[in-house]
Amino acid sequence: MSSSRRRNSEEQVRLVYKGRSWSYPVVTGTEGERAVDISTLRRDTGLITLDPGFVNTGACSSAITFVDGERGILRHRGYAIEDLAEHCVFLEVAYLLIMGKLPNRQEWQRFSSLMNQHSMIHEDMRDFFLNYPERAHPMAVLSAMVVSLSSFYPEIEQEPMEEVPLDITATRLLSKLRTIAAFSYKKSIGEPFVYPSYRMSYCENFLNMMFSSPVNDYWPDPVVVRALNLFLILHADHEQNCSTSVVRFVASAGGSLYASVAAGICALWGPLHGGANQAVIEMLERILREDKGRVDRVIERAKKKDPRTRLMGFGHRIYKTYDPRARIAKDACMKLLARLGLQNDPLLEIALELEEKALNDPYFKERHLYPNVDFYTGIAYRAMGIPTNMFTVMFAIGRLPGWIAHWMECRKDPTQKIARPRQVYIGETARPFIPMDQRP
Ligand code: SDX
Repeated sequence: MSSSRRRNSEEQVRLVYKGRSWSYPVVTGTEGERAVDISTLRRDTGLITLDPGFVNTGACSSAITFVDGERGILRHRGYAIEDLAEHCVFLEVAYLLIMGKLPNRQEWQRFSSLMNQHSMIHEDMRDFFLNYPERAHPMAVLSAMVVSLSSFYPEIEQEPMEEVPLDITATRLLSKLRTIAAFSYKKSIGEPFVYPSYRMSYCENFLNMMFSSPVNDYWPDPVVVRALNLFLILHADHEQNCSTSVVRFVASAGGSLYASVAAGICALWGPLHGGANQAVIEMLERILREDKGRVDRVIERAKKKDPRTRLMGFGHRIYKTYDPRARIAKDACMKLLARLGLQNDPLLEIALELEEKALNDPYFKERHLYPNVDFYTGIAYRAMGIPTNMFTVMFAIGRLPGWIAHWMECRKDPTQKIARPRQVYIGETARPFIPMDQRP
């Protein structure tokens, strides 16, 4: 998006330093968000800003997703997440994020046909899987396979971006990532790969490639297919989160879509980010096993500032109220487990009690800590039969359209510069060189 839809308001911020003063414009976004534009600060004053974790720093202008963390609002290209979750399938939301509009019937048919056309991976890529150790984490395999796609499909890198139709660039990766994910699961359990089928929808195909085998007569349960579409929609994009920022960093250097997404997958893997959905289930299972379900002790330990005892799936950098995705995920999770006859899942019971106790505890209330998108997602994926170490892969599959949209937006933004933050140096200064034989 060019910055033309960002308005310079009449407002100014004045900075006074060492007897001099400078004014910086306040810019306003289409949802009323305001920022002070300090792009000439260092040249004017010699100062830089210091903002660990970029808590107060906007890295770019974007037209893809809007989040209001105080009011619990999430919109993709202007559409409320609640409407998209209720009325769309995942690929429609992927199309919306990437193309900027919901598809009409004709566009939908072309997109679906391209998804089918690009669902296979090069047969030589199978050998990559065969040489991975069975215990390899699927996120490691996913990142390696994605960056390897550029070796098998170099044309996408060589053609100028403008000449490769957006929907081909997008569907190639959207479709192949799903196949790679399912293949990495089959590899980890020593079962033969199941190929995508043109007779199945996106989510049906994924579930079939995951759970079908020569010895079973598997057909995806429509209840699970609907739930999977919804959970992937809930993960589709979230503005400038850690992994999307990494994708944009690599894009800003001119990195290819495959290289940018491979880097984003590695960032998402972290337990403070997308790896939290796996960490939530491991936490709930630990409570069941070691704490005999006693959540009070877990709540007390979570307040001890020890990163190892944090309440995983709780808290968020942006949301200071209930994450709207978590609200939808909780409702969908409970409906799915009831439909599958799993409503008495002990992990769900522990999660519900944890949430109830934490939301009434002053420590969590004072810090505005609520369940985030990861808190209930893992329980639902577990009910679908997806193994815990694949949960973050599911997050990556869901997040991919957001990454693609941001990569495109970054590459097409004429105002975008290579991402290169500054620092405050606190190391040694001006040390005299000492030859090795004279060093103590
Ligand atoms: C995702 O950015 C995105 O949009 C991410 C995401 C997306 O869609 O891309 O929404 C997906 O990553 C969701 C978050 C998943 N991570 C977890 O569930 C891990 C557990 N949560 C936290 O580690 C933490 O809440 C973060 C990482 C999510 C946010 O960290 P911040 O914004 O840096 O907040 P902080 O660590 O400075 O915490 C503020 C205070 C601290 O206490 P004080 O020093 O003020 O006394 O809250 C405390 C923290 O100790 N705190 C927690 C806590 N999270 C924050 N205390 C106990 N348990 C927690 N989970």
